Amino acid sequence: MSKKDYSILVVDDEEAFRYMLSSLLTGDGYTADTAGDGVSAINAVQTKPFHVVLCDVKMPKVDGIEVLKFIKQNFPAIEVIMLTGSASIPIAVECMKVGAYDYITKPTTSDDLLSTIERALERRQLLIDNIVMKSELTRLAGPNDMVGESEAFRKVLDIARKVAPTESTVLIQGPSGTGKELIASYIFQNSDRRDLPFVTLNCASIPDTLIESELFGYEKGAFTDARSTKQGIVEIANNGTLFLDEIGDISPIVQPKILRFIQSGEFRRVGGNTVLRADCRILSATNKNLKEEVKEGRFREDLLYRLNVITIDIPPLKARKSDVPLLVASFLTSRMKTKVKKTISPKAMEVLMQYDWPGNIRELENVIERAAILCHNNTIEPHDLSLATSPLMLPTGGSSDNKIGTAMALKEIERMHIEGVLRSFRGNKTESAKVLGISLKTLYTKIQQYQIKLS
Ligand SMILES: Nc1ncnc2c1ncn2[C@@H]1O[C@H](COP(=O)(O)OP(=O)(O)OP(=O)(O)O)[C@@H](O)[C@H]1O
Ligand SMILES: [Mg+2]
Repeated sequence: MSKKDYSILVVDDEEAFRYMLSSLLTGDGYTADTAGDGVSAINAVQTKPFHVVLCDVKMPKVDGIEVLKFIKQNFPAIEVIMLTGSASIPIAVECMKVGAYDYITKPTTSDDLLSTIERALERRQLLIDNIVMKSELTRLAGPNDMVGESEAFRKVLDIARKVAPTESTVLIQGPSGTGKELIASYIFQNSDRRDLPFVTLNCASIPDTLIESELFGYEKGAFTDARSTKQGIVEIANNGTLFLDEIGDISPIVQPKILRFIQSGEFRRVGGNTVLRADCRILSATNKNLKEEVKEGRFREDLLYRLNVITIDIPPLKARKSDVPLLVASFLTSRMKTKVKKTISPKAMEVLMQYDWPGNIRELENVIERAAILCHNNTIEPHDLSLATSPLMLPTGGSSDNKIGTAMALKEIERMHIEGVLRSFRGNKTESAKVLGISLKTLYTKIQQYQIKLS
């Protein structure tokens, strides 16, 4: 594997330093890209596969530590080397805790930097070899405590229960945070394949270019990175269950290959000629409307009809508010490992019942967790609840600047809402993403997309 095949992202707000580093790297044979701030760095790693990221710690707005956290959460195989202008032990410790490969103080010698990169690349290879094996084989093996008694939720459970012991392909649809993964795991645990592997592929978190080789594996020499043959996820899930999460995000290039696999059980490793077979029960989930995606030409109709033999639609929490008290009770008892049992006052419960829950059950869980930590006398009161003051909650009618129901674009409402939430959490993106019920990755994409100013 030649150095040219390794791509390195240099993130620094100082243009001269960025330029100096990237020419040092290209001079040594690597492929280098640059980013001048945290937000563009986060967007760069999502659009192009990088092997190593060199990242300045101190940058305005989104700093290096945040970039590091994001990468480690979403792209654990990228090695991150942090750079800083001044030697500070607490910062170094924090970087290492969050998962940086190493920490270098500027100015550094080019020898030092290059040998650190080389070592990071070696470790990365070891990590990659393990990633699929460890993937999510055990993740969903825990107890399945699904709560809900509303008519709408009972319908969902009823279909899940009926379909679980069959071999049917199931498509689970619903807005973010409604429990799609939980339902998938419920179906698996109540199926005849429960003692066989359950493997999840999150189609949104793996770059398009890697999806095919993750799914179907590759033969030695298929591309420069392929030093030995690697099994794909479908082989690991053979005889078991394959859960394709966020299937709506899968690229049109991979769609026909998945279709062929579902139809015939046949696949080829990348770079291989032999036709192999694997028998997987397929579950999939999405928060997109796949019929719309088909209309827009982004999703193959024939694939949709293979996936949705049975469709389970999970309604948003606001359509089944009678589940709120049960969920709250369950979060306060079984999920939270607090020493003293916390309770909730009737007033606070009323507030929860009136709220619209754009982030659904995930948002409710986060709100309760925060409140349980912050409350006094072990009782949650309304002021302990940090609900995103959504524009959707404004009283209808009356006020002249109430734009709900007017011809304002949905996107505009989304932008306002995200801005509002970011403001109420003083720009803390992890907290805001939790409350919004979206992933940190999606939040960063939206910040860029709507050009939201972070101050
Ligand atoms: N019926 C339920 N009872 C108890 N907890 C639930 C229920 N549904 C969802 N949850 C909890 O809500 C959180 C979100 O659920 P999950 O991850 O399954 O949602 P999702 O629909 O896959 O979301 P996303 O589209 O964002 O991936 C999890 O912590 C899950 O345990
Ligand atoms: Mg999910």
